[in-house]
Amino acid sequence: MTNNKQPRVIDIFDTTLRDGEQAPGCSMNLQEKLEVARRLERLGVSVIEAGFPASSPGDLESVKTIAEILKNCSVAGLCRSLEKDIDAARAALTKAAQPRIHVFLATSPIHMEYKLKMLPDQVLEQAAAAVKYAKKFCSDVEFSAEDASRSDPDFVCRVFKAVIDAGATVVNIPDTTGYAMPEEFAQLVQYIKEHTPNSDKAKISMHCHNDLGLAVANSLAAVGAGADQVECTINGIGERAGNASLEEIVMGLRVRKDYLHVDTRIDTTQIYAASRLVSQVTGVNVQPNKAIVGENAFAHEAGVHQHGVLVNRATYEIMTPESIGIPKNRMVLGKHSGRHAFEERLKELGLTLDEAALEAVFTQFKMLADKKKVVSDPDIEALVMGASALTPETYKLDRWVVNSGSTLSSTSTIRLQHKDGEFLEYVSVGHGPIDAAFKAINQIIKKEPELEHYDLRAITGGEDAQGETRVRIAWEGRRWNGRGVSTDVIESSIKAYIAAINAMEWETPVK
Ligand code: KIV
Ligand code: ZN
Repeated sequence: MTNNKQPRVIDIFDTTLRDGEQAPGCSMNLQEKLEVARRLERLGVSVIEAGFPASSPGDLESVKTIAEILKNCSVAGLCRSLEKDIDAARAALTKAAQPRIHVFLATSPIHMEYKLKMLPDQVLEQAAAAVKYAKKFCSDVEFSAEDASRSDPDFVCRVFKAVIDAGATVVNIPDTTGYAMPEEFAQLVQYIKEHTPNSDKAKISMHCHNDLGLAVANSLAAVGAGADQVECTINGIGERAGNASLEEIVMGLRVRKDYLHVDTRIDTTQIYAASRLVSQVTGVNVQPNKAIVGENAFAHEAGVHQHGVLVNRATYEIMTPESIGIPKNRMVLGKHSGRHAFEERLKELGLTLDEAALEAVFTQFKMLADKKKVVSDPDIEALVMGASALTPETYKLDRWVVNSGSTLSSTSTIRLQHKDGEFLEYVSVGHGPIDAAFKAINQIIKKEPELEHYDLRAITGGEDAQGETRVRIAWEGRRWNGRGVSTDVIESSIKAYIAAINAMEWETPVK
């Protein structure tokens, strides 16, 4: 039977920069947030939740900057149901083309009793008052009933009625603890829609966490039950086990449009680039078997599968890699490739650079091509991410020597160039080559940050693969991430450490 009804359009509300950024190790500095926000706008999301303005001056500043720049989507700021939080969001969103104030208050018995120490009627009153206050400054106000999936559904309906009467344009049903089961969650969404008398005056949204690995399943079930907005993050980053992953939801809706009969405004060909960017700036790798954007998502290993795919890709592929922006063209780049071919490849990978950065990356590409026979896509992405140097460089690596062996202590000589032009050199001894190198850098910068996290991986296969190092350093209670890439793993480690130091020198701490 064919369905001739026009598909419903679902709003994609991206909270990578708020809920995603709250996850340990996923913090981003202002430059990085801006880069991600621009990428999300290009992806076509309806709403970007840019931060929680009252949580810190840095968050307010980043919401403000993002709100000033983006023109083609709504920019939301999260607030507790408190006037001071709403004032901060209002200040941050003054220049937004499409501002949204997002207020939340918990409605579950456990949150009301132990966290809020409030009675249900007080919660209802405060929620409505907060929405009414926010509405004075912003026509688009979203209300979230935190922990809705563990709340009394009738109470959620009462709260939603009150906030919609107070002016809420969107009411959100969060599965805050990732507790719900898909069928149960769908029934909850349907129940709330049917039993909130004025639900037709607001959009119904949902926001799912992944504690039981069900965030995407619950989100899709809720869409099937009539929800109008899905909240999600790129790569599913977020508190604890994360949020529902944007790419999985969007591709789920696209591939199974026959079943769910809905559309989104997402340009799916931008998904891959967005995923790579978020992984680069947060330093959190995407697991290889992750649906849609994992390294193996379109790899066919078994002979039978390979044969099937060669005859007809649809035998084992329900979507094409090109549909998420993985380029079809597997043209090999190497030392004979010219600038034109290189630029074409960048375009195909969805990577954009200004003239100066392009020039710098092309020079690095040529240097890399001298060392490696084939420069692959991940190599190119790594060069681009490194060169779009989101943080100004206080120190640049000039040269290094490290000696290491089984019987001797490791020694290092590192020379950095300060942004003022001065060359600074130190020699140090350490427990291994990396320790020796980092100690020499510490002498140069005259600080001893704690190395909280160190991670090294090969970007591609083969003995000439580039190594990618990610570090997180902590100093006086604040943290900074850094990333470095090189065909030499000691050099990639030194570069990552310097990148983190530069972020620290620029005074943009991460949480
Ligand atoms: O998980 C949650 O409940 C939230 C709300 C603030 C929407 O992030
Ligand atoms: Zn959340």
